[in-house]
Amino acid sequence: MLLTVRDLSVSFGGVHALNLSHFSLEDKELRVIIGPNGAGKSTFLDILCGKTKPNSGEVLFNGTPVLGKTEVEIANLGIGRKFQKPSVFPSLTVYENMLLAFKMKKSILASLFFKPTEEIDTRIREVAARVGLVKELKKIAGELSHGQKQWLEIAIVVLQDPRLMLIDEPAAGMSDEETEKTGELLMQLSKQHGIIVIEHDMKFVEQIAQDLVTVLVRGKLLVEGSFGEIRNDQRVIDSYLGRANVQLENF
Ligand SMILES: Nc1ncnc2c1ncn2[C@@H]1O[C@H](COP(=O)(O)OP(=O)(O)OP(=O)(O)O)[C@@H](O)[C@H]1O
Ligand SMILES: [Mg+2]
Repeated sequence: MLLTVRDLSVSFGGVHALNLSHFSLEDKELRVIIGPNGAGKSTFLDILCGKTKPNSGEVLFNGTPVLGKTEVEIANLGIGRKFQKPSVFPSLTVYENMLLAFKMKKSILASLFFKPTEEIDTRIREVAARVGLVKELKKIAGELSHGQKQWLEIAIVVLQDPRLMLIDEPAAGMSDEETEKTGELLMQLSKQHGIIVIEHDMKFVEQIAQDLVTVLVRGKLLVEGSFGEIRNDQRVIDSYLGRANVQLENF
């Protein structure tokens, strides 16, 4: 197993945000997590990347305990995170934003004198090609379309070459075409990385859910299964899919 989680619990001001009895992910598995607003999905990823400290529980990444480590230590272990809110630098070019993925690994002083080697340059172009941003490398990131910004963020995570990528709502606000391209990208990436994706768009979930889908409701694991099993599960319909905020067109 790449990731094993047991009895993970966190509460904010006495309210249980997450109470996850078990969760595991195999190497190069692509797992989709769905569930209503406030179900604890982002909180789960926050704990996995060290942003939030849980009250109790155990997380093993490739056999190594993760809890208690800092965000930097966890990133160095091989867990990369793309957040729900965009975090690219809008006044830098696409290339410069991608270069920062390498600078971030260095000290502030070392990063001031940092010069991209040919190897880094080649890697940036390779990843840019993979996410469809080769023609945009010199463009100012702030001028990219919404979808392109999301792909840039994914590219920055890919450049860190993590064994596990955590991706929160990549398709939110995207056009149908951009959403489909994002799905293809994630499926490509899952050949090399374990991936956990959180998403509300069910058409997108159907596209990428080749392995298991995990349903979280009120901090708890409601059910896990294939997309077909999940969509027909009465408990999932009652607590999530039947609600108005779920995007169910073509469903
Ligand atoms: N830093 C925090 N401080 C206090 N409460 C928080 C914090 N982060 C999350 N919560 C609460 O924890 C619960 C779970 O939130 P979380 O953001 O994980 O949900 P989510 O499943 O990602 O929802 P959404 O689909 O809307 O993104 C919510 O009740 C939220 O208000
Ligand atoms: Mg969230």
